Amino acid sequence: MAKNKFNKAWVMAHVNDPYVKLAQQQGYRARAAFKLKEIDEQEKLIKPGMTIVDLGSTPGSWSQVAREKLVSRGKINGHIVALDLLEMEPIEGVHFILGDFREDAVLEQLEQTLQTLGVEKVDLVLSDMAPNLSGVESADMARIAHVCEIALEFSRQWLKPEGALLVKTFHGSGFSQIVESFKQVFVQVVVRKPKASRDKSAETYLLGKRLKVVK
Ligand SMILES: C[S@@+](CC[C@H](N)C(=O)[O-])C[C@H]1O[C@@H](n2cnc3c(N)ncnc32)[C@H](O)[C@@H]1O
Repeated sequence: MAKNKFNKAWVMAHVNDPYVKLAQQQGYRARAAFKLKEIDEQEKLIKPGMTIVDLGSTPGSWSQVAREKLVSRGKINGHIVALDLLEMEPIEGVHFILGDFREDAVLEQLEQTLQTLGVEKVDLVLSDMAPNLSGVESADMARIAHVCEIALEFSRQWLKPEGALLVKTFHGSGFSQIVESFKQVFVQVVVRKPKASRDKSAETYLLGKRLKVVK
C-alpha cells in the first residue's frame, strides 16, 4: 500500500515535470539531457572534433546532446563511444558497447573500440552511471564511490592533458573522499548541481579538468 502511494506520487511528479515535457518536445530520450546541456553551457565541455566516452549511456540522451554538438553537415566530426549494462537504441554515428564497466573484459572492449577508431587519447569522459541502490547508505556510498573511482582511473589513463571528466555522484558520507581522489588527478575540480537534477535528490555532478602532471 505504502509502496503504491509512493509510486503514484513519483508518477505524478514525473508527468508534471517540466524537463520531462521538454525532453519529449525536443526529442531527447531522457530529461537527463538538460543536466548535461546546462553543465556544458557553463563549462564549454563539448567541441567539434572531440572524442567523447559516455559511460552509463542508456537510454541515450547524453549521447544525443554530445552528437548534436559534434555534428556538422549531418556527419559527426569526432567520435562518441557509449557504454551501458543495458541495451541502447542505436544513435547514428555513436558506437555502443553493451556491458558492465566494472568488468575488465568490458573495459578492454572499450579500449579496443577506441584503438580501432584510431583514437590515442580522449577529450571528454562522461559518466552518468548510477548503480542500483539498496537503501543502506554505507553500502550505497561504497557502490557509488566504486563506479566513480573506475571512471577516474580510466580517465587518468586515457584523457588528453587538457581533457575533462564529468561524473554523477551523491552527497553523503564518502563524498569528500571522492572529491579528494579527483583533486589528486585533476588541476581543477568543481561541483555542479544542474537545475534539472531534482532538488530533493542527493545527486550531484563532479567535474575534473586538466590532468595533473605526474612527476
Ligand atoms: C541515469 S542512467 C543514464 C542516463 C543517460 N545519461 C542518458 O542521458 O540517457 C544510468 C545508467 O547507468 C547504467 N549503469 C549503472 N552501472 C553501470 C555499470 N557498472 N556499467 C555500465 N553501465 C552502468 C545503468 O544501466 C543506467 O542505464
